[in-house]
Amino acid sequence: MPSLIAATRSWVRRHARRILAGPVAVVAVGLIAFGFFAGFGATSSATQPIVSFNSQVLAKGQYLFDEHCSACHGVGGVGSSRAPTLVPVGAAAADFYLITGRMPLNNHGDQAQAHTPYFDASQIEALVSYVADLPRIHGETKLGPGIPSILPLCSKAQKRGPTGDQVAYPGSDPNCVTLSYGQATYALDCAQCHQIAGAGGILANGMIVPSLTQAPPLVVAEAMRVGPQPMPRFGTGQLDQKQLSAVVHYVQYLHHPEDRGGLTVGGFGPVGEGFVGILGGLGLLLVVSRFIGTRA
Ligand code: HEC
Ligand code: HEC
Repeated sequence: MPSLIAATRSWVRRHARRILAGPVAVVAVGLIAFGFFAGFGATSSATQPIVSFNSQVLAKGQYLFDEHCSACHGVGGVGSSRAPTLVPVGAAAADFYLITGRMPLNNHGDQAQAHTPYFDASQIEALVSYVADLPRIHGETKLGPGIPSILPLCSKAQKRGPTGDQVAYPGSDPNCVTLSYGQATYALDCAQCHQIAGAGGILANGMIVPSLTQAPPLVVAEAMRVGPQPMPRFGTGQLDQKQLSAVVHYVQYLHHPEDRGGLTVGGFGPVGEGFVGILGGLGLLLVVSRFIGTRA
């Protein structure tokens, strides 16, 4: 027995490099690629569009609008029999409809649904800026809602006060919002259509209520301020900035609630899990096949 163990040890020592080199390389390359995509996903969902009234940006926006939007929304966005006016809608509406790929619509009778955006980020910024500038072009003073900003989530270190409110420790953000506040607001204002877990569904008139389990923070914030038909619009009078932010964080929490189980790889969800699973499995398989191969 001891001699067998000793023989195995020396065999492993002699062959270790050859057995491990391949799998280690596969896993390393895979992890680098995964890190790249994970990082990429994180930064691209975090960027806020910049509404710019720079003349070059506006000219690009007008060009794209004339090309892709004016056939339905009219020249200068004044509306037509095919689509509503865009003069009063504001930057939030333009951004929401473009980043969720709802616009441009193919057929003006269809329900605008989310899919891959048609335009790239700089084209979206130009179009959003142009739509935000429409009131000025038409001499109107009333502006539509701008891109909403989102208050931070309170860290768990912050404790509750006697009224159930979050008490911020010195040095932490006094404007932070809590998940429980978001949950309460969501239950009251959103759950009747989107379901308590955000799964979505179908309305009595056959319109689709989308699932929220993929919606990024900005899309959730903008949806509330815009109210894509038939969803009601929640202005600052219905939901103030704290309520809006709390709902945004609560919906992000619904993406992977802590009690759902499973392994979250860097908070990246099932895609990350599957990817690491495949890589780990592939690596192991290679080790085993090398081992068997060299033994024979
Ligand atoms: C085929 C016709 C069509 C085209 C092309 C089109 N739209 Fe629309 N758009 C509509 C219709 C119809 C609605 C209203 C129905 C809805 O909201 O689903 C709408 C709604 C919108 C709204 C929401 C308006 C509101 O009151 O909140 C925005 C913003 C918008 N479109 C932007 C654009 C932009 C920007 C483009 C070009 C990139 C574009 N649309 C191209 C038909 C079109
Ligand atoms: C009356 C039912 C109703 C209520 C209440 C409602 N929604 Fe919606 N919501 C919808 C429908 C229907 C759509 C799809 C509209 C469309 O496709 O243009 C939608 C779209 C959305 C989207 C876009 C999702 C995507 O994939 O692009 C988000 C985000 C959203 N709602 C969040 C909320 C939040 C947060 C609340 C509560 C503050 C809320 N909704 C309340 C019906 C509702």
